[in-house]
Amino acid sequence: MMRIRKAIFPVAGLGTRFLPATKAIPKEMLPVVDRPLIQHVVDEAREAGIEHFIFVTGRNKSVIEDHFDRQFELEVTLNERGKKAELALLSDALPAAGTASFTRQQSPLGLGHAVWCARELVGREPFALLLPDVLVQHERGCLAQMVDAAQQLEANANIVAVEKVPPERISSYGVVGVGQRTGQLFRITGMVEKPKASEAPSDLAITGRYILQPRIFDLLAHQAAGAGGEIQLTDAMLALARHEPFYGYEFQGRSFDCGSKIGFLAANVAYALARPDMAREARATIEALLGEA
Ligand code: UTP
Repeated sequence: MMRIRKAIFPVAGLGTRFLPATKAIPKEMLPVVDRPLIQHVVDEAREAGIEHFIFVTGRNKSVIEDHFDRQFELEVTLNERGKKAELALLSDALPAAGTASFTRQQSPLGLGHAVWCARELVGREPFALLLPDVLVQHERGCLAQMVDAAQQLEANANIVAVEKVPPERISSYGVVGVGQRTGQLFRITGMVEKPKASEAPSDLAITGRYILQPRIFDLLAHQAAGAGGEIQLTDAMLALARHEPFYGYEFQGRSFDCGSKIGFLAANVAYALARPDMAREARATIEALLGEA
Protein backbone atom coordinates (compact mmCIF):
# COMPACT_ATOMS: atom_id res chain seq x y z
CA MET A 1 0.00 0.00 0.00
CA MET A 2 1.32 3.42 -0.93
CA ARG A 3 1.19 5.98 1.86
CA ILE A 4 1.48 9.64 0.81
CA ARG A 5 2.25 11.82 3.82
CA LYS A 6 3.96 14.83 2.30
CA ALA A 7 3.06 17.37 -0.37
CA ILE A 8 5.15 19.97 -2.17
CA PHE A 9 3.67 23.33 -3.18
CA PRO A 10 6.01 25.20 -5.55
CA VAL A 11 5.31 28.90 -5.06
CA ALA A 12 8.52 30.54 -6.23
CA GLY A 13 7.47 31.55 -9.76
CA LEU A 14 7.41 35.17 -10.88
CA GLY A 15 3.76 35.27 -11.97
CA THR A 16 4.60 37.50 -14.93
CA ARG A 17 1.23 36.86 -16.59
CA PHE A 18 -0.45 38.64 -13.69
CA LEU A 19 1.63 41.79 -13.50
CA PRO A 20 1.13 44.35 -12.06
CA ALA A 21 -1.06 42.47 -9.52
CA THR A 22 1.87 40.18 -8.69
CA LYS A 23 4.49 42.90 -8.29
CA ALA A 24 4.19 42.99 -4.48
CA ILE A 25 1.75 40.10 -3.89
CA PRO A 26 2.55 36.50 -4.83
CA LYS A 27 0.26 35.01 -7.48
CA GLU A 28 -0.60 32.23 -5.03
CA MET A 29 -2.19 34.79 -2.70
CA LEU A 30 -4.71 36.02 -5.30
CA PRO A 31 -8.17 35.11 -3.98
CA VAL A 32 -10.71 32.89 -5.68
CA VAL A 33 -13.88 34.22 -4.04
CA ASP A 34 -12.55 34.73 -0.50
CA ARG A 35 -9.64 32.31 -0.12
CA PRO A 36 -6.18 32.65 -1.64
CA LEU A 37 -5.30 30.10 -4.32
CA ILE A 38 -2.77 28.48 -2.00
CA GLN A 39 -5.43 27.94 0.66
CA HIS A 40 -7.70 26.12 -1.80
CA VAL A 41 -4.86 23.80 -2.75
CA VAL A 42 -3.66 23.18 0.82
CA ASP A 43 -7.25 22.26 1.74
CA GLU A 44 -7.31 19.80 -1.19
CA ALA A 45 -4.11 18.21 0.17
CA ARG A 46 -5.54 17.97 3.69
CA GLU A 47 -8.62 16.21 2.33
CA ALA A 48 -6.27 13.67 0.71
CA GLY A 49 -4.69 12.88 4.09
CA ILE A 50 -1.48 14.89 3.66
CA GLU A 51 0.27 15.46 6.99
CA HIS A 52 3.25 17.62 6.02
CA PHE A 53 2.99 20.68 3.77
CA ILE A 54 6.22 21.75 2.07
CA PHE A 55 6.31 25.16 0.39
CA VAL A 56 9.10 26.07 -2.00
CA THR A 57 9.05 29.84 -1.82
CA GLY A 58 11.20 32.68 -3.10
CA ARG A 59 11.97 36.30 -2.41
CA ASN A 60 8.93 38.49 -1.69
CA LYS A 61 6.81 35.45 -0.80
CA SER A 62 6.96 35.63 3.00
CA VAL A 63 3.29 36.63 3.10
CA ILE A 64 2.49 32.99 2.22
CA GLU A 65 4.26 31.91 5.41
CA ASP A 66 2.32 34.55 7.36
CA HIS A 67 -0.93 33.29 5.89
CA PHE A 68 -0.35 29.88 7.51
CA ASP A 69 0.49 31.35 10.91
CA ARG A 70 -1.64 32.91 13.63
CA GLN A 71 -2.44 36.61 13.35
CA PHE A 72 -2.45 37.45 17.02
CA GLU A 73 -3.79 41.05 16.94
CA LEU A 74 -6.57 40.10 14.54
CA GLU A 75 -7.60 37.13 16.71
CA VAL A 76 -7.68 39.29 19.86
CA THR A 77 -9.80 41.93 18.12
CA LEU A 78 -12.24 39.38 16.65
CA ASN A 79 -12.51 37.75 20.06
CA GLU A 80 -13.29 41.06 21.77
CA ARG A 81 -16.00 41.72 19.20
CA GLY A 82 -17.48 38.23 19.60
CA LYS A 83 -16.87 37.33 15.93
CA LYS A 84 -16.94 33.55 16.46
CA ALA A 85 -17.56 32.51 12.84
CA GLU A 86 -14.60 34.56 11.57
CA LEU A 87 -12.36 33.14 14.32
CA ALA A 88 -13.38 29.59 13.36
CA LEU A 89 -12.60 30.36 9.70
CA LEU A 90 -9.09 31.46 10.64
CA SER A 91 -8.35 28.47 12.84
CA ASP A 92 -9.76 25.98 10.28
CA ALA A 93 -7.32 27.35 7.71
CA LEU A 94 -4.25 26.72 9.89
CA PRO A 95 -2.12 23.61 9.48
CA ALA A 96 -1.29 22.02 12.86
CA ALA A 97 1.87 23.37 14.52
CA GLY A 98 5.00 21.87 13.03
CA THR A 99 3.34 20.46 9.90
CA ALA A 100 4.28 23.25 7.46
CA SER A 101 7.84 23.71 6.21
CA PHE A 102 9.24 26.44 4.00
CA THR A 103 12.36 26.36 1.88
CA ARG A 104 13.56 28.80 -0.74
CA GLN A 105 14.32 28.36 -4.37
CA GLN A 106 16.96 31.05 -4.60
CA SER A 107 16.35 31.69 -8.31
CA PRO A 108 13.28 30.66 -10.34
CA LEU A 109 15.10 28.13 -12.53
CA GLY A 110 11.96 26.19 -13.40
CA LEU A 111 9.39 23.86 -11.86
CA GLY A 112 11.80 20.89 -11.90
CA HIS A 113 14.34 22.87 -9.92
CA ALA A 114 11.66 24.04 -7.44
CA VAL A 115 10.70 20.40 -6.78
CA TRP A 116 14.37 19.42 -6.35
CA CYS A 117 14.73 22.17 -3.70
CA ALA A 118 12.33 20.19 -1.48
CA ARG A 119 14.40 16.96 -1.58
CA GLU A 120 15.78 17.19 1.98
CA LEU A 121 12.34 17.94 3.42
CA VAL A 122 10.68 15.05 1.56
CA GLY A 123 13.39 12.41 2.12
CA ARG A 124 13.06 8.98 0.49
CA GLU A 125 9.31 8.48 0.31
CA PRO A 126 6.62 9.02 -2.34
CA PHE A 127 5.07 12.48 -2.22
CA ALA A 128 2.35 14.60 -3.78
CA LEU A 129 3.04 17.69 -5.86
CA LEU A 130 0.32 20.31 -6.31
CA LEU A 131 0.65 23.38 -8.53
CA PRO A 132 -1.22 26.10 -6.68
CA ASP A 133 -2.24 27.98 -9.82
CA VAL A 134 -4.37 25.01 -10.92
CA LEU A 135 -7.67 24.56 -9.09
CA VAL A 136 -9.80 21.47 -9.59
CA GLN A 137 -13.45 21.79 -8.67
CA HIS A 138 -15.11 18.57 -7.55
CA GLU A 139 -16.85 17.26 -4.47
CA ARG A 140 -13.96 14.88 -3.83
CA GLY A 141 -10.69 16.71 -4.42
CA CYS A 142 -8.40 15.68 -7.27
CA LEU A 143 -5.52 14.61 -5.01
CA ALA A 144 -7.83 12.53 -2.80
CA GLN A 145 -9.06 10.74 -5.95
CA MET A 146 -5.44 10.07 -6.96
CA VAL A 147 -4.44 8.78 -3.52
CA ASP A 148 -7.44 6.40 -3.64
CA ALA A 149 -6.41 5.20 -7.11
CA ALA A 150 -2.78 4.74 -5.99
CA GLN A 151 -3.89 2.04 -3.56
CA GLN A 152 -4.48 -0.36 -6.48
CA LEU A 153 -0.98 0.20 -7.90
CA GLU A 154 2.58 -1.00 -7.31
CA ALA A 155 4.34 0.66 -4.35
CA ASN A 156 6.79 2.34 -6.73
CA ALA A 157 4.16 3.77 -9.11
CA ASN A 158 4.09 7.39 -10.25
CA ILE A 159 0.85 9.15 -11.26
CA VAL A 160 0.01 12.38 -13.08
CA ALA A 161 -3.50 13.83 -13.20
CA VAL A 162 -4.72 14.35 -16.76
CA GLU A 163 -7.72 15.99 -18.37
CA LYS A 164 -9.18 16.15 -21.90
CA VAL A 165 -8.30 19.36 -23.69
CA PRO A 166 -9.71 20.56 -27.06
CA PRO A 167 -7.27 20.37 -30.02
CA GLU A 168 -6.92 24.17 -30.33
CA ARG A 169 -5.52 24.36 -26.78
CA ILE A 170 -3.45 21.17 -26.62
CA SER A 171 -0.22 22.93 -27.66
CA SER A 172 -0.18 24.82 -24.32
CA TYR A 173 0.17 21.65 -22.23
CA GLY A 174 2.26 18.59 -21.46
CA VAL A 175 0.48 15.75 -23.25
CA VAL A 176 0.64 12.01 -22.46
CA GLY A 177 0.61 8.93 -24.66
CA VAL A 178 -2.01 6.39 -23.53
CA GLY A 179 -1.23 2.71 -22.97
CA GLN A 180 -3.18 -0.04 -21.23
CA ARG A 181 -6.21 1.34 -19.42
CA THR A 182 -8.25 0.25 -16.38
CA GLY A 183 -11.08 2.69 -15.69
CA GLN A 184 -9.67 6.15 -15.04
CA LEU A 185 -6.08 4.88 -14.74
CA PHE A 186 -3.80 4.06 -17.68
CA ARG A 187 -0.14 3.34 -18.33
CA ILE A 188 1.68 6.29 -19.85
CA THR A 189 3.64 5.54 -23.02
CA GLY A 190 5.23 8.98 -23.36
CA MET A 191 5.00 12.66 -22.46
CA VAL A 192 5.47 15.60 -24.80
CA GLU A 193 5.72 19.21 -23.62
CA LYS A 194 3.62 21.66 -25.71
CA PRO A 195 3.17 19.57 -28.90
CA LYS A 196 1.59 20.83 -32.13
CA ALA A 197 -2.03 19.64 -32.27
CA SER A 198 -1.18 17.39 -35.25
CA GLU A 199 1.68 15.73 -33.32
CA ALA A 200 0.04 15.38 -29.89
CA PRO A 201 0.00 11.72 -28.73
CA SER A 202 -3.54 12.15 -27.27
CA ASP A 203 -5.99 14.81 -26.10
CA LEU A 204 -5.04 14.28 -22.45
CA ALA A 205 -3.05 17.06 -20.79
CA ILE A 206 -1.07 16.94 -17.52
CA THR A 207 -3.01 19.03 -15.01
CA GLY A 208 -0.95 20.16 -12.01
CA ARG A 209 -1.35 17.21 -9.61
CA TYR A 210 1.27 14.47 -9.27
CA ILE A 211 2.24 11.55 -7.05
CA LEU A 212 5.94 10.92 -7.51
CA GLN A 213 8.63 8.62 -6.18
CA PRO A 214 11.76 10.09 -4.56
CA ARG A 215 13.91 8.84 -7.43
CA ILE A 216 12.77 11.96 -9.30
CA PHE A 217 15.14 13.97 -7.07
CA ASP A 218 18.16 11.94 -8.30
CA LEU A 219 17.12 12.61 -11.89
CA LEU A 220 16.45 16.30 -11.29
CA ALA A 221 19.92 16.66 -9.76
CA HIS A 222 21.43 15.86 -13.17
CA GLN A 223 18.74 17.38 -15.33
CA ALA A 224 20.03 19.94 -17.80
CA ALA A 225 17.92 23.00 -18.59
CA GLY A 226 15.29 22.26 -21.25
CA ALA A 227 12.63 24.36 -22.98
CA GLY A 228 12.82 28.06 -22.06
CA GLY A 229 16.18 27.53 -20.32
CA GLU A 230 14.30 26.12 -17.30
CA ILE A 231 14.83 22.82 -15.52
CA GLN A 232 11.69 21.02 -16.67
CA LEU A 233 9.84 18.53 -14.52
CA THR A 234 8.51 16.75 -17.62
CA ASP A 235 12.06 15.89 -18.79
CA ALA A 236 12.83 14.28 -15.41
CA MET A 237 9.49 12.44 -15.38
CA LEU A 238 10.27 11.01 -18.82
CA ALA A 239 13.57 9.69 -17.47
CA LEU A 240 11.79 8.31 -14.38
CA ALA A 241 9.27 6.47 -16.58
CA ARG A 242 12.18 4.38 -17.93
CA HIS A 243 12.78 2.94 -14.44
CA GLU A 244 9.42 2.90 -12.71
CA PRO A 245 5.75 2.38 -13.61
CA PHE A 246 4.06 5.62 -14.66
CA TYR A 247 0.29 6.16 -14.82
CA GLY A 248 -2.11 8.83 -15.96
CA TYR A 249 -5.29 9.37 -13.94
CA GLU A 250 -8.27 10.97 -15.63
CA PHE A 251 -9.76 12.74 -12.63
CA GLN A 252 -13.37 13.74 -12.06
CA GLY A 253 -13.99 17.46 -11.96
CA ARG A 254 -13.07 20.57 -13.86
CA SER A 255 -9.74 22.36 -13.72
CA PHE A 256 -9.04 26.09 -13.88
CA ASP A 257 -5.67 27.46 -14.91
CA CYS A 258 -5.58 30.37 -12.51
CA GLY A 259 -2.16 31.45 -13.80
CA SER A 260 -4.03 32.87 -16.82
CA LYS A 261 -6.43 35.79 -16.55
CA ILE A 262 -9.38 34.02 -18.16
CA GLY A 263 -8.84 30.85 -16.10
CA PHE A 264 -8.71 32.94 -12.94
CA LEU A 265 -11.90 34.78 -13.87
CA ALA A 266 -13.64 31.49 -14.71
CA ALA A 267 -12.58 30.01 -11.35
CA ASN A 268 -14.04 32.97 -9.48
CA VAL A 269 -17.34 32.65 -11.32
CA ALA A 270 -17.54 28.87 -10.93
CA TYR A 271 -16.60 28.87 -7.23
CA ALA A 272 -19.05 31.69 -6.45
CA LEU A 273 -21.85 29.82 -8.26
CA ALA A 274 -21.03 26.70 -6.23
CA ARG A 275 -21.27 28.50 -2.88
CA PRO A 276 -24.68 28.01 -1.25
CA ASP A 277 -24.36 31.37 0.55
CA MET A 278 -23.59 33.28 -2.68
CA ALA A 279 -24.98 31.36 -5.64
CA ARG A 280 -28.25 33.24 -6.09
CA GLU A 281 -26.75 36.70 -5.89
CA ALA A 282 -23.76 35.71 -8.02
CA ARG A 283 -26.00 34.34 -10.76
CA ALA A 284 -28.23 37.43 -10.77
CA THR A 285 -25.20 39.72 -10.94
CA ILE A 286 -23.60 37.77 -13.79
CA GLU A 287 -26.87 37.62 -15.73
CA ALA A 288 -27.37 41.37 -15.31
CA LEU A 289 -23.85 42.08 -16.55
CA LEU A 290 -24.30 39.77 -19.54
CA GLY A 291 -27.59 41.47 -20.34
CA GLU A 292 -25.81 44.82 -20.51
CA ALA A 293 -22.79 43.61 -22.49
P1 UTP B 1 4.11 28.81 -13.86
O1 UTP B 1 5.06 28.89 -15.00
O2 UTP B 1 2.65 28.67 -14.12
O3 UTP B 1 4.24 30.09 -12.90
O4 UTP B 1 4.58 27.69 -12.85
P2 UTP B 1 5.03 31.44 -13.02
O5 UTP B 1 6.38 31.26 -13.59
O6 UTP B 1 4.94 32.03 -11.64
O7 UTP B 1 4.02 32.29 -13.92
P3 UTP B 1 4.22 33.16 -15.24
O8 UTP B 1 4.27 32.17 -16.36
O9 UTP B 1 5.47 33.97 -15.05
O10 UTP B 1 2.98 34.02 -15.26
C1 UTP B 1 3.72 26.79 -12.17
C2 UTP B 1 4.01 26.79 -10.67
O11 UTP B 1 5.38 26.50 -10.43
C3 UTP B 1 5.96 27.49 -9.60
C4 UTP B 1 5.07 28.71 -9.74
O12 UTP B 1 5.11 29.49 -8.54
C5 UTP B 1 3.71 28.14 -10.01
O13 UTP B 1 2.99 27.90 -8.81
N1 UTP B 1 7.36 27.73 -10.05
C6 UTP B 1 7.65 27.92 -11.36
C7 UTP B 1 8.37 27.74 -9.10
O14 UTP B 1 8.13 27.55 -7.88
N2 UTP B 1 9.66 27.96 -9.52
C8 UTP B 1 9.97 28.17 -10.82
O15 UTP B 1 11.16 28.37 -11.12
C9 UTP B 1 8.94 28.15 -11.76
